[in-house]
Amino acid sequence: MKAIIIGATSGIGEALALEMAKQGYELGLTGRRTENLTAIQQQLQNTAKTHIQTMDVTNYEQAQTDFMSLVTQMGGVDVVVINAGIGSFSTKWEAELSIINTNVAGFCAIAHIAFTYFAQQKKGHIVGISSVAAVSGGAQMPAYNASKAFISNYMQGLRQKSLRKNLNIAITDIRPGFVKTPMTEQNRFMFWVATAQKAAAQIAQAIKNKRKVAYITRRWLLVAWILQLLPDKMMAKMG
Ligand SMILES: NC(=O)c1ccc[n+]([C@@H]2O[C@H](COP(=O)([O-])OP(=O)(O)OC[C@H]3O[C@@H](n4cnc5c(N)ncnc54)[C@H](OP(=O)(O)O)[C@@H]3O)[C@@H](O)[C@H]2O)c1
Repeated sequence: MKAIIIGATSGIGEALALEMAKQGYELGLTGRRTENLTAIQQQLQNTAKTHIQTMDVTNYEQAQTDFMSLVTQMGGVDVVVINAGIGSFSTKWEAELSIINTNVAGFCAIAHIAFTYFAQQKKGHIVGISSVAAVSGGAQMPAYNASKAFISNYMQGLRQKSLRKNLNIAITDIRPGFVKTPMTEQNRFMFWVATAQKAAAQIAQAIKNKRKVAYITRRWLLVAWILQLLPDKMMAKMG
């Protein structure tokens, strides 16, 4: 099996690359930090065949071109994991715009080109890294929660489009709770924190099982359920 991971240079994406390499996947790894891609490729040289492609998902058309040249270099792909994402506690507009550009438009740029490629093959699997944050608004990072709600909703649409057109494209919506990564270094309040390795192992299993939606770790399903029931006043207090 061949898989591309968009955003594989640190945290969950990097851990997932190591996990999928162990499981025998041939990998295409992307991200903006070329030096990290090269280091991971070197680390995996005795484990798996890897291809690397520097890519910024916010250069939308260029990212789509880079994606297709990676697919060509790999001689095809079976699974595309769209993991690239950012968060920020800044209240500035520039920070919100960055989140929207990366998590919404950047996500769609890759999901769109991957879906188009898989539609021609009449098979494939798109995996999007959303979040438990998708299920509810959040006072601390409203744009982040909304971007993840967009991702989950967009993937539901892609799943229905695949069914409607008989395309045999599986869609997996991954919703992690807290995972210890460079992104969460700034978080002061966290609980049930998983290591990136544990999260990656569960994500790989969800991919294998072609799950529609998977909470990582599994008990975050409970939190998601509670979050949907809490009134705004209580959510505001929790932050
Ligand atoms: N950690 C958590 O608790 C948690 C919880 C729920 C969901 N998530 C989601 O999990 C995903 C991975 O996050 P993480 O926690 O592992 O954080 P991370 O270590 O900061 O990883 C983020 C990844 O996204 C890539 N990326 C960011 N902007 C990009 C851009 N413009 N173009 C291409 N790649 C870009 C980064 O690569 P470069 O910087 O090299 O470009 C990096 O590989 C995100 O979508 C995040 O929202 C995380």
